[in-house]
Amino acid sequence: MVRFVTSLLLASLGASALAATSCSTSSQCPKDKPCCSQYGECGTGAYCLGGCDPQSSFTIDSCAPMPVCKDKKYTWDNLDNAAKQDKYLGNASAADWTYSGDPKTKDGNLIMTMPTKSVGTLFANNHYIWYGKISGKIKSSRGKGVVTAFILLSDVKDEIDYEFVGADLAAVQTNYYWQGVLDWHNSGNATVDGGNTFDDWHTYEIDWQPDQVRWVVDGDVKRTLKKSETWNATANRYQFPQTPARLQMSLWPAGQASNAKGTIDWAGGEIDWDSEDIKDLGYYSATIGEIKVQCYNPPDGTSKNGDKSYVYTDKIALNNSIAITDNSTVLGSLGATGLNMNLGADDNKKNSSPSINSDSVPTNQGGSGGMSGNGSGATTTHSGSNAQSSGNGFTQGGDKANGASVYGERILSSSLFAVTVAVVVLVTL
Ligand SMILES: *[C@@H]1O[C@H](CO)[C@@H](O)[C@H](O)[C@H]1NC(C)=O
Ligand SMILES: *[C@@H]1O[C@H](CO)[C@@H](O)[C@H](O)[C@H]1NC(C)=O
Ligand SMILES: *[C@@H]1O[C@H](CO)[C@@H](O)[C@H](O)[C@H]1NC(C)=O
Ligand SMILES: *[C@@H]1O[C@H](CO)[C@@H](O)[C@H](O)[C@H]1NC(C)=O
Ligand SMILES: *[C@@H]1O[C@H](CO)[C@@H](O)[C@H](O)[C@H]1NC(C)=O
Ligand SMILES: *[C@@H]1O[C@H](CO)[C@@H](O)[C@H](O)[C@H]1NC(C)=O
Repeated sequence: MVRFVTSLLLASLGASALAATSCSTSSQCPKDKPCCSQYGECGTGAYCLGGCDPQSSFTIDSCAPMPVCKDKKYTWDNLDNAAKQDKYLGNASAADWTYSGDPKTKDGNLIMTMPTKSVGTLFANNHYIWYGKISGKIKSSRGKGVVTAFILLSDVKDEIDYEFVGADLAAVQTNYYWQGVLDWHNSGNATVDGGNTFDDWHTYEIDWQPDQVRWVVDGDVKRTLKKSETWNATANRYQFPQTPARLQMSLWPAGQASNAKGTIDWAGGEIDWDSEDIKDLGYYSATIGEIKVQCYNPPDGTSKNGDKSYVYTDKIALNNSIAITDNSTVLGSLGATGLNMNLGADDNKKNSSPSINSDSVPTNQGGSGGMSGNGSGATTTHSGSNAQSSGNGFTQGGDKANGASVYGERILSSSLFAVTVAVVVLVTL
């Protein structure tokens, strides 16, 4: 699961954020705020875009259609192709990425930073991938409690991860989830040969096919997961990542003191906010070089009436619950939803600025994708009813009284590996 860190935004949104309506697969959003964000909160606008969970939203078409996969190479001379979350309305041709945090670019690379006591940086690609080969040249961050993530995360929390734990620069953890169900057997640990993950460039690839996932580091296949190995005979289904997913990259403070013990242990201990990197630069950092996405053809038998967007056709969210359509992915305003895509479009043209509030732009929580770890230590903090959750997120810096942190930690505990910062929290899974 993805965990996200709550960012400072949470604090700044104050009371309104705290009053957010939460959502889960067993408690869908109400009609007026129909979209369940990645963090498990209801809203409109950006809540209906990347991360919007169709299983927990008011109806299956409350979330906006998802931009289809795009073959592309990304380099980082500037951040012109990246938008802050409150500036993105679903046009992936205009902005390839949305992000939170304080990223920088240098020598054609992206520097994801995590200043003292912050929740770090999260970059999410706006083009969904429904099978493909994704690779990234990465130099991870370092230090106990500091986690760098490179993951694929779907809106129903299918997830395929690389997670770099800063306390172990000789290896990268691999993990996957199906619909956020926590299972520590899913995690693996791949040794990285030839220099460590912090000082040296390595290429981390996820080769995601309908019948298998391969984690490939510097051209060596480190791990293969066959779909056939994921069969659940009781439920009669493959618990394999099989829904359109976005690439998320993050740097986040898994070892922050307020996180669950299992999470902190997994991350190698509490973060040292007085480390060499903090003293020298004022932040921890992970460096991202070229990212390549090569899309695979959709599986035979997929319902296809266009080539612009993926939509869910069934809440069960398995491999045959996806159709490809020409439906637009772009919202008219931050008040619009999948149920009324053009709402507010005319006002926008007239230039009145859209009202941005906590119900239209989810709190960015930095974070990362799943964690795994042996979340066992953390498990004791779970109390939730949803066994099935996936959660996401952990909050950082959040106000514990509001429950968000509690959920976040629960989630965290559930998985620890991952990646990106994500988002959010308040999840309920
Ligand atoms: C999306 O952005 C592209 C590039 O900026 C632009 O050409 C196109 O008209 C936009 N599409 C919509 C539906 O706004
Ligand atoms: C992962 O592998 C590295 C290198 O072999 C080892 O030092 C480390 O303890 C392993 N980590 C886990 C969580 O198994
Ligand atoms: C298999 O499915 C059953 C029924 O939904 C569920 O209770 C069980 O936890 C699943 N097994 C695994 C390993 O996820
Ligand atoms: C979905 O998975 C099943 C079982 O592996 C397979 O038989 C079927 O062809 C798949 N359908 C699609 C559209 O991928
Ligand atoms: C796609 O667009 C058509 C025509 O506007 C609409 O009837 C249909 O409900 C849309 N489908 C989805 C899944 O949004
Ligand atoms: C995770 O926890 C389980 C149960 O406590 C333990 O058996 C297993 O060895 C642990 N796995 C790792 C990778 O530490």
